[in-house]
Amino acid sequence: MKKIDWRTVSFVSTGAKKENFPSFPLIKGKMCPEIVIGGKSNVGKSSLINTLFGRKSVAHTSKTPGKTKAIHFFLLPEASSFADLPGYGWAKVSRDLKDKWNEMMEEYFETRKEVVCTLILIDSRHPPSKEDRLFAEWLNFHKKKALLVLTKSDKISKEEKKKWLASHLSSLFPEGVDYLFFSSKTKESLLELRMKLSEVICQNC
Ligand code: GTP
Ligand code: MG
Repeated sequence: MKKIDWRTVSFVSTGAKKENFPSFPLIKGKMCPEIVIGGKSNVGKSSLINTLFGRKSVAHTSKTPGKTKAIHFFLLPEASSFADLPGYGWAKVSRDLKDKWNEMMEEYFETRKEVVCTLILIDSRHPPSKEDRLFAEWLNFHKKKALLVLTKSDKISKEEKKKWLASHLSSLFPEGVDYLFFSSKTKESLLELRMKLSEVICQNC
């Protein structure tokens, strides 16, 4: 398997409509594989991106939930691209903004045929929200390859991890899913995450 140099990532652009989604150079004649990072606002998407790439602030983290309103694209040259989705389920956004979010997601997944894996991030301290369930259902229905990332795992005990899995895993993904507990603070599962992503990136190379 090709060794990936995670630190070579760079931020490319932000887009909310397909005209503004970037296209990336082919890799050995094939489409550049794209990995999606989605989840509720404040779940730790940007922190995961910074930790994954070993960079302090390639993605902006925030204390104000819902700041990211469009998709941020990143490129790891000669390997893959990454799309950081805007967080869903931000209680304060208007119905109008929620509809826009849904529209943007539909347009994104309809046009990006190069998506090879979707990371669905859920805060391991809490049960899945209604929106988490809808997102998982949508991925299951469309048979998209998913990796469930249970974030902020530094905040919970071993017992609580077991409990989370026993209570929610099979109802979210009845046909099973790859998962890991992740912490941007302690870097728990960072190597495992990189390995799983290397596998999906390299499956066609
Ligand atoms: P939006 O872009 O607003 O949707 O948020 P996001 O999902 O990108 O979350 P972000 O990475 O900005 O993190 C939100 C808050 O959670 C910040 O205050 C982070 O410091 C904190 N946080 C993120 N990951 C972890 C983690 O693994 N452990 C702990 N303890 N805190 C975390
Ligand atoms: Mg963010």
